Amino acid sequence: MRAWLRFLRQSDDSEDREAAAAPAVPGVRVEVQGLNKFFGPKHVLRDLTLTVEAGETFVIFGPSGCGKSVLLKHITGLLVPDAGRILVDGEEFRAGTGGHRFRMAMVFQSSALFNSLSVGENVGLWLKEHRICGPSEIARIVAEKLALVGLAGTERSRPAELSGGMRKRVAIARALAIDPQLILYDEPTAGLDPVLTEQIGGVIADLKTLRITAIVVTHDLNLAATVADRLGMIHEGRLIETGTPAQVWATANPVVRSFLNTQMKIPGR
Ligand SMILES: Nc1ncnc2c1ncn2[C@@H]1O[C@H](COP(=O)(O)OP(=O)(O)O)[C@@H](O)[C@H]1O
Ligand SMILES: [Mg+2]
Repeated sequence: MRAWLRFLRQSDDSEDREAAAAPAVPGVRVEVQGLNKFFGPKHVLRDLTLTVEAGETFVIFGPSGCGKSVLLKHITGLLVPDAGRILVDGEEFRAGTGGHRFRMAMVFQSSALFNSLSVGENVGLWLKEHRICGPSEIARIVAEKLALVGLAGTERSRPAELSGGMRKRVAIARALAIDPQLILYDEPTAGLDPVLTEQIGGVIADLKTLRITAIVVTHDLNLAATVADRLGMIHEGRLIETGTPAQVWATANPVVRSFLNTQMKIPGR
C-alpha cells in the first residue's frame, strides 16, 4: 500500500474540493522523451519517445519482456531514467521528488486489495488516510466509484469472497476514488478468462467518457482493440509502431504484423 500511496500527489483539501466540483476530470498530457534504461548490461528501454494526449486512452502492447512494465514504472516514478525525461502537462516529472502536481493512480496486475478490509474500505482508504473528506462524503464517493465499475452495493463484501474479475473492478474503483488525472493499468486482464477479460475491457472502455488520461499495458490485443484511442507497440525496448487501431492493424511493419497475427485473428484479414 505504501508504494501505491507514493504514486499519489500530496495535495491540500481545497484543491481536492475544487477538483471534485469540476464537471469532468481533465486528464494530463504525458510526454516520454528519449527514455533509456539499463539493468546492468541489459539495455531495456531504447530511445523511447511517446506522447499520450490529455484524456486519451493509450494502449502499450508487445511481447512479454519487451519493457512495458519498466516503462510504466518510469511514469509512476518507481524507476529513474538513465537518459531521457518524462513531462506531464509540459512539466518535467522527476521520480522520488514527491509533490508532483497531478493525481496518478495505478491498477496493479495483482489487484493488491487488502483482504482484512471490506470492498468499501478498500475503495475509500486513500480518502480516509489523507483526510480528504468526512465519512459520509467518503461513503458517497465509494458508492459512486463502485457504480462506475458495475459493482454498486458491494461495499460490505470482503475481497476474498469476490471473483478475480470483481476484485479487478474493485481495484479500478479504488484507483478512481482519488479522482485521478492519469490512470495506469498493468496487464488488467492477466489471469482472467475470456468472458471476464471482455467485462474488464468494457469497464475500461466505459471509463473513457470521464476523459481521464489512461495508459493500458497489455499483451492482449482484444483488450487493446476494445479500449484504445491509439496504441503503440514496444519491441526489444523500442517503440516500433504507433497509431489508431485501424492504422496499426494495417501496418506494413513485418515485426508488428507477425505479432498481430500470432495474437489475434482480425476479421477480414
Ligand atoms: N528490476 C529489474 N532488474 C533487472 N532487470 C529487470 C528489472 N525489471 C525488469 N527487468 C528486465 O527488463 C526487461 C523488461 O521487463 P518488463 O518491462 O517487466 O517486461 P514486460 O514487457 O513483460 O512488462 C525484462 O528482460 C526484465 O527481465
Ligand atoms: Mg509486465
